[in-house]
Amino acid sequence: MADGGGIRRDRGTLKGGVGASVPHDSAAKHVAGEAVYIDDIPELPGTLHVAPHLSVHAHARVLSVDVSAARAAPGVRAVITAADVPGDIDIGPVFPGDPVLADGLVQFHGQPIAAVAADTLKQARAAAKLVRVEYEPLPAVLTAEEALEKRFFVSPSLTMRRGAPEAALATAPHRMTGTMEMGGQDHFYLEGMIAYAQPREDGDLLVFSSTQHPSEVQHLIARCLGLADHAVTVEVRRMGGGFGGKETQPAQIACIASILAAKTHRPVKFRLDRDDDMIMTGKRHDFFVRYDVGHDADGRILALDMDLAGRCGFSPDLSNAIVDRAMFHADNGYFLPHAEVRGHRCKTHTVSNTAFRGFGGPQGMVAIEHLVDRIARTLGRDPLDVRKANLYGRDGVRDVTHYGMTVEDNVLPEMLDELERSSDYRARRRAIDDFNRGSPVLKRGVALTPVKFGISFTATHLNQAGALVLVYQDGTVQLNHGGTEMGQGVYVKVAQVVAETFQIDLDRIRITATNTGKVPNTSPTAASSGTDLNGMAARDGAMQIRNRLTHFLAERFGTAPDAVAFKDNKVRVGDQVMAFEDVTRMAYMARISLSATGFYRTPKIWWDRSAAHGRPFYYFAYGAAATEAEIDTLTGEYRFLRADVLHDVGHSINPAIDIGQIEGGFVQGIGWLTMEELWWDAGGRLRTHAPSTYKIPTARDVPADLRVSLFANVNREDTIHRSKAVGEPPLMLGISVWLALRDAVAAVADHRVVPDLDAPATPERVLMACEDLRARMAG
Ligand code: MTE
Ligand code: MOS
Repeated sequence: MADGGGIRRDRGTLKGGVGASVPHDSAAKHVAGEAVYIDDIPELPGTLHVAPHLSVHAHARVLSVDVSAARAAPGVRAVITAADVPGDIDIGPVFPGDPVLADGLVQFHGQPIAAVAADTLKQARAAAKLVRVEYEPLPAVLTAEEALEKRFFVSPSLTMRRGAPEAALATAPHRMTGTMEMGGQDHFYLEGMIAYAQPREDGDLLVFSSTQHPSEVQHLIARCLGLADHAVTVEVRRMGGGFGGKETQPAQIACIASILAAKTHRPVKFRLDRDDDMIMTGKRHDFFVRYDVGHDADGRILALDMDLAGRCGFSPDLSNAIVDRAMFHADNGYFLPHAEVRGHRCKTHTVSNTAFRGFGGPQGMVAIEHLVDRIARTLGRDPLDVRKANLYGRDGVRDVTHYGMTVEDNVLPEMLDELERSSDYRARRRAIDDFNRGSPVLKRGVALTPVKFGISFTATHLNQAGALVLVYQDGTVQLNHGGTEMGQGVYVKVAQVVAETFQIDLDRIRITATNTGKVPNTSPTAASSGTDLNGMAARDGAMQIRNRLTHFLAERFGTAPDAVAFKDNKVRVGDQVMAFEDVTRMAYMARISLSATGFYRTPKIWWDRSAAHGRPFYYFAYGAAATEAEIDTLTGEYRFLRADVLHDVGHSINPAIDIGQIEGGFVQGIGWLTMEELWWDAGGRLRTHAPSTYKIPTARDVPADLRVSLFANVNREDTIHRSKAVGEPPLMLGISVWLALRDAVAAVADHRVVPDLDAPATPERVLMACEDLRARMAG
């Protein structure tokens, strides 16, 4: 495994500072089953449990809702419908459109219409079945393609444009048009959606919510109850995974629990079971793509015209920003001299799709990688050569994106060269060709693909963070910030930053639950920016205290402030050396404040959406993967023999955590593009809502030989310790797996015909693609 990515520094004797591969702070508790998730919090006496009643139509007017039988059922304490919401019924996070309970109209099969609170969960579930709803069914639109035809959108389309694509297409020596589709993805976090609302004094509420965005849950609870924000406190110590699925949609669960708690004056817990979670909550957007591309004889793209149509479901949720991000990533790492990219937010009568690791970016990248792969195969060239020919350049040469941002930090040319060498790509390509010549049934393929992913929220105002740093007299620290922990390690990385700042061991820092009563107005932990933003805010808070201590000591000992140095749990003042805890005690006695709030906002970024122009990203994170796959052309089954990953995390704050994110993201990307398949029937009912019908990758699906290294790099921008965000980008390394399968399928026709293989490339699709090639060869 690689080291911290380039910088070697004097580590001294400090335990757990920046650059140290310390384990996740909860790793031992996760393994021992001792980590406290919301369902593990000891229940208060009188706690009620909730079950929802869900729509059985994709689109229908609700003529009447009769809850009398449910209300009379054993153990039931309250049943609510839209009519019982005391405040605003709409909990749309950015745009309106999300009723907390369906109000007169249902817009997807599975939309909650009523909720029952009872003494036990069993009683609540039994009573929820007794709710009677009268519907008048309406016609439903179910697919992105159909919605695109009908121009049925949740919000207006957007265009990004550079140069003169029409003219460049008309004169391009080669031109091709086509369409493709890629599927969505269920988050399948191990901990399902849950909230636990506890009434406090004066009508206040304390709500535990499994959410990436406690501040938004706080605001929406207050709004739907008609309370002030200060009356609601939301806390989350950890989630059992979020993956974007808990960026907006936990609000509905928390609001329903809170309305019931306010109504009954009882603590109320609402935990979805797996099936309801999969049915009721949004997923990754599946996309329909249409393109017209012009290229030269080397496969260089000269002009691109592309429509990206995402299935948003019934409401806007975050789809504006998600389809924007798909558009931002329609270049992946490639220069598009003339391009028009149009993004469409297709409205369908299905669950409202939401954030999912990569936030639309992966979909844009799959579209362009499909295209580049097709260009290479049409020209009969190695796709890696065509990829390299299309990479962004530098210093004014082919370095501006289709949204006007200059790519200043491009390291893909070096990364692809390095991975090509370290993965032995060329020799293995020849070995694979040899293997395929001698193997009529099993075929192998390989693909090496890049990742370039923009870091920052494209809603510029979200790029801010706050922290609260409390130092106690004994020299220990409580740390709090707006970041939420979902397994990705933001807590330990930010704690390492604070340990480094004070130069104290990591075990002196107590990481505390994210709580809207400690740091207000936080942004979601999303866009991979958790450590970038909260690490900076926490360092700011710690620096303020350190500076106070420095000036206090300088004055006390009559030295200049720069004679004071913090190092390895000690503080040196001139010739004197003191323990950190002696300094904090002394400072307390001298009435020096030992707490501070820190704050950070990302510099340089701006985005003018109406002109589709700006610098939406502070920087880019890069990666590349080379995967070798083997398919059985008679069954469509496959396995992944080897994958080599090279990923750029800048100067790593914690290489072990970062490598964990790279491996986990890569495998989640493999799942999305190969085996995870969502299937709605003709009535708009999701039929894949449990692990029996929805397959996520397991340990067996990880490439047998997986080699991950960190690219030696430092962030050229002034990020926290020059690190780079790592949460989402590695998911897109999974594209190499999908294209390795495509390469293996192409071997069926000896690479003379371009195969059709959309995503997910399930064994069924792989088999159909092989059959199709055989038929085309025969015909
Ligand atoms: N890793 C784990 N283990 N669990 C998660 O839910 N979410 C991903 C990524 N890695 C996730 C994860 C997503 S979608 C994002 S945006 C980032 O983590 C968020 O955390 P960060 O900003 O601290 O990287
Ligand atoms: Mo991640 S999709 O930005 O929560």
